Amino acid sequence: MSVPLLQVRDLVKHYPGAASWLGRKRPTIQAVDGVSFDVERGETLALVGESGCGKTTTGKSILRLIEPTSGSVKLDGEDIARLDAAAMRERRRDMQIIFQDPYASLNPRMTAGAIVEEPMRNFSSAQGHGAAARAERVAWLFSKVGLRPEAMKKFPHEFSGGQRQRLGIARALALRPKLIVCDEPVSALDVSVQAQVINLLTDLQREFGIAYLFVAHDLAVVRHISHRVAVMYLGQVVELADRQTLFSRPRHPYTEILLSAVPVPNPHVHSQRILLRGDPPSPANPPSGCRFHTRCPLAQDICKKERPVLSPRSPDGAGADGSAAAATQWVACHFR
Ligand SMILES: Nc1ncnc2c1ncn2[C@@H]1O[C@H](COP(=O)(O)OP(=O)(O)O)[C@@H](O)[C@H]1O
Ligand SMILES: [Mg+2]
Repeated sequence: MSVPLLQVRDLVKHYPGAASWLGRKRPTIQAVDGVSFDVERGETLALVGESGCGKTTTGKSILRLIEPTSGSVKLDGEDIARLDAAAMRERRRDMQIIFQDPYASLNPRMTAGAIVEEPMRNFSSAQGHGAAARAERVAWLFSKVGLRPEAMKKFPHEFSGGQRQRLGIARALALRPKLIVCDEPVSALDVSVQAQVINLLTDLQREFGIAYLFVAHDLAVVRHISHRVAVMYLGQVVELADRQTLFSRPRHPYTEILLSAVPVPNPHVHSQRILLRGDPPSPANPPSGCRFHTRCPLAQDICKKERPVLSPRSPDGAGADGSAAAATQWVACHFR
């Protein structure tokens, strides 16, 4: 069996918190605390959870746009956490990121054409192409993301939100990446435009075999694009399953609650929306044991004391069976 494209193991990112005015010890913000998952070639893994649960930190740590505190990230089996700056720069060609607000990441003084060409210029030696070949590729990329050739001469502020996201996608595609981290790429767009951008991403995946780590705060958005889904709560993955299993047989109580908020396509079926109790706890002072216990309807004494490990469940519903290879569902819960 070939090695997965991306292997994330025990990823941790702790930020130093602000010092309090009493001069006490600075708290540590445990933004990401022991996250593990794989992304296979050409697949979409969705990373879902409430705002502040650590999705962006996970995505940026994988690309080393921020330095992880500990853990390993392997791309094609190579541990990129250990690469020096020059080697990492070279590796970053294979991994790109697109953001929720493309406007913030597009240089307002550059034309759209120059924005898409820029990554190719930076890697011109490796690319082995001159200006003419680059211009040709820029035009081709514009057509691939559904932007008209005239758009190359425009500036970012002249685009609509959806067009700007297409521009961000074209730039991300420029170096033929194997993986794109999509950080809430449609969250800021109108619903009708959301569907167009998601369809575009799906088409590009089919054509080029790109893998996506697709970050979103709600499950409705990832329903149509993901092959598998990882659900995060307060810096940890609480459930990981293929899409079909996750949407039809969620196991973790938190996943159930998130799912209950997803609109049901069939108007004759009324889902019971379950409300989350209380506010999310602070990652500077996370609850002991299972981090979800303060809001969980199933919580018992053990949940306050022991952290449940993300472990495989057998498909027949018989609970953990120990055979990780066959499992399609991984859950971190003492009771599920
Ligand atoms: N640079 C930073 N310094 C301190 N805390 C941070 C920093 N970036 C993010 N955080 C905190 O880490 C947690 C996770 O943030 P983030 O990864 O942005 O979550 P998400 O993308 O899921 O909304 C939040 O509590 C956030 O306030
Ligand atoms: Mg985020």
